[in-house]
Amino acid sequence: MMDMTSNVRPESLARIETEAQANAFIDEQIELIKAQVGDGKVLLALSGGVDSSVCAALLIKAIGKQLTCVHVNHGLLRKGEPEQVIEVFRNQMDANLVYVDAVDRFLDKLAGVDDPETKRKIIGKEFIDVFAEEAKKIEGVSFLGQGTIYPDILESDGVKAHHNVGGLPPELNFELVEPVKFLYKDEVRVVGKALGLPDGMVYRQPFPGPGLGVRCVGAITRDRLEALREADAIVREEIGKMNPAPWQYFCVVPDMKSTGIKDGKRYMGWAVVIRAVNTKDAVTAKAVELSWETLTTIRDRIIATVPGVNRVLWDFSDKPVSTIEWE
Ligand code: XMP
Repeated sequence: MMDMTSNVRPESLARIETEAQANAFIDEQIELIKAQVGDGKVLLALSGGVDSSVCAALLIKAIGKQLTCVHVNHGLLRKGEPEQVIEVFRNQMDANLVYVDAVDRFLDKLAGVDDPETKRKIIGKEFIDVFAEEAKKIEGVSFLGQGTIYPDILESDGVKAHHNVGGLPPELNFELVEPVKFLYKDEVRVVGKALGLPDGMVYRQPFPGPGLGVRCVGAITRDRLEALREADAIVREEIGKMNPAPWQYFCVVPDMKSTGIKDGKRYMGWAVVIRAVNTKDAVTAKAVELSWETLTTIRDRIIATVPGVNRVLWDFSDKPVSTIEWE
């Protein structure tokens, strides 16, 4: 059996590439989770990203309703994400899922705040507060499930750690259950597939913790955030048709307006900026070449359907000097 108290990947753990290897890993983790948790209760913040989803699915297989998943909708998720979490985990897997609609709470706190790091801090702190409040409502919890993966341990001072703020308050000193902590991202995906999670979840592109909050540039307003969410769904659908799809592709709506013309009348509207990059480690990145057909399809769909947008731009800058996100 693997030693889960260590932070060094065991040599006995061969790379997980096939379904059979994933199934053997899943069986072993189920035994390990049962041994660690016994009849205790586990809490997990379930964002719907691949790491937390695979972690949740493993825990559900091992301990079923002893796990409570908390999905915090902070209003900065992509189109359809909260619905997918509810569909997969509550409806299909019959998990204990607490869905917290915290949209107003987050957006009220963020109103008028335009400094990116302050926005990140507010989102990070509010998330912890909401999660801690939910944790206190559930009696007898002593474990915290967490979708930590091996690169998180190896690069605890890397890009992700640099951006992520927070930690649980000390009164919630739960013992961690981290079933995927020895796996690399591609292995987590193989395990997720073997667990029956939908492709849209398993092959999701990286998405920052503060979500659309750092793509609705400057002070977030609800109407501009909605325009961003709708445009992002179109960008992801169209660029997602590329084979292979880029490493990360999304859009940004800057806090500025420019002139448009409709029915002979001039008006001010927002610009949507398309961004698609390839990278190995997010430290450097290259803009991905998009075809004219892809660009014009995105442009036409956005202009026809997203209220308030009258211009579409393509950001084809590399990192350095341009970071992947705009904030
Ligand atoms: P940048 O913009 O620094 O982004 O080139 C590098 C990678 O990190 C992601 N990113 C974040 N991830 N919280 C996260 O979890 C954040 O605050 C954050 N900011 C950027 C970004 O999407 C890219 O993949």
